[in-house]
Amino acid sequence: MTAHRPITAAADAAGYIPGFGNHVATEAVPGALPVGRNSPQRPPFGLYAEQLSGTAFTAPRHENRRSWLYRMRPTAEHPAFKPYAGAPRFTAGDREGPLAPNRLRWDPLPHAEAGVDLIDGITTMLTNRPPAELTGVAVHVYAASKDMDARVFQNADGEMLFVPEAGRLELLTELGRIEVAPGQVALVPRGVRFRAVLPDGQARGYIAENHGASFRLPDLGPIGANGLANPRDFETPVAWFEDRDEAFEVVQKFDGRLWTTTLDHSPLDVVAWHGNLAPWRYDLSRFNTINTVSFDHPDPSIFTVLTSPSETPGRANADFVIFPPRWMVAEGTFRPPWFHRNVMSEAMGLIHGAYDAKAEGFQPGGLSLHNLMAGHGPDLASWRGASEAELKPHKIEGTMAFMVESCWPYRPTAYAQTHCQLDYDEVWADFPKARLPE
Ligand code: FE2
Repeated sequence: MTAHRPITAAADAAGYIPGFGNHVATEAVPGALPVGRNSPQRPPFGLYAEQLSGTAFTAPRHENRRSWLYRMRPTAEHPAFKPYAGAPRFTAGDREGPLAPNRLRWDPLPHAEAGVDLIDGITTMLTNRPPAELTGVAVHVYAASKDMDARVFQNADGEMLFVPEAGRLELLTELGRIEVAPGQVALVPRGVRFRAVLPDGQARGYIAENHGASFRLPDLGPIGANGLANPRDFETPVAWFEDRDEAFEVVQKFDGRLWTTTLDHSPLDVVAWHGNLAPWRYDLSRFNTINTVSFDHPDPSIFTVLTSPSETPGRANADFVIFPPRWMVAEGTFRPPWFHRNVMSEAMGLIHGAYDAKAEGFQPGGLSLHNLMAGHGPDLASWRGASEAELKPHKIEGTMAFMVESCWPYRPTAYAQTHCQLDYDEVWADFPKARLPE
């Protein structure tokens, strides 16, 4: 007989385990987690052992992400999927037709009408590669007013980084429960099923759906061993499950489309798990912001929270970058982000406050797009203000903007193309001409 020693994860009182990408062992029922092997002949309590692999089996060890789940029924037990008729604006995007090189900006979505849950409340705004290429990133916005109850979502196309802008989300996942509020972000790995409840009744925000290599912390180079997002501030939930024998819908995103099937039980029935593929949350206020203490504005890569590398070193498939509260002390310097053109394509959102390069028109919940080689930078009012400002130490406070930067140009969806601001180019109109000496 195999002895089952209870394993207690080093979780805090709220039920989270600190650290990024750690190998975790956690059980919601003492004795549920097999000891010393992944797939015993008879797992405890008749649970089913199931491996969930987020990387190829043969990925290098430092890249390899997988977890072993011990669940009440195997995931394999389900009827065929059929096309899902809901979520009309949650799309694969359109790859046909010319992609205009225009800068675009959008107002926030209105708050959701009654009866719209997170999945049906997703609007895809930007896509850049078909998910089956295992690269690229899509940017969605969501507005929801209803809990997902007897249904879950599963995304085979990529991991989902949630960036709430208004209202909390509670993500009840196969691997545990995460509450995420505006100012925090949460990640659900590819394939992990979850449902979202809305503790505040309404929720709105952004989702970066990453089809490529999973997000990880960027290398720090000369910064050293500490700084930017520190690993211990990422929080992974402890095991949690629900035992509900009733009809449960599973909506799955697969190859850009949505599919549905129905189970006779909740698939959130993982009683114990171990491994390093897991959801997590992170409080953006814990970001250790680094900037100049002499002159010039460094490249915004200093604000990278997470990166998904492409196959070209240093060129990200997706970077998640934030513009947090920070002191501005640069001497003799134009302090906001400068005018530039970039081989990377930039999708930008605002969680709260105002972004220091845009005086107006970019609201919390809004979105902007500056694709590859699009000229952009401060608007006229911001340029004028920063050019004339007295350069005392100044703290930018009460703001949190972010960017999902990708090496692949973004395509606005049909919805995005027909709902953008019509006057965005005008923020860069009427700059005075430089005056050369006679
Ligand atoms: Fe930019």
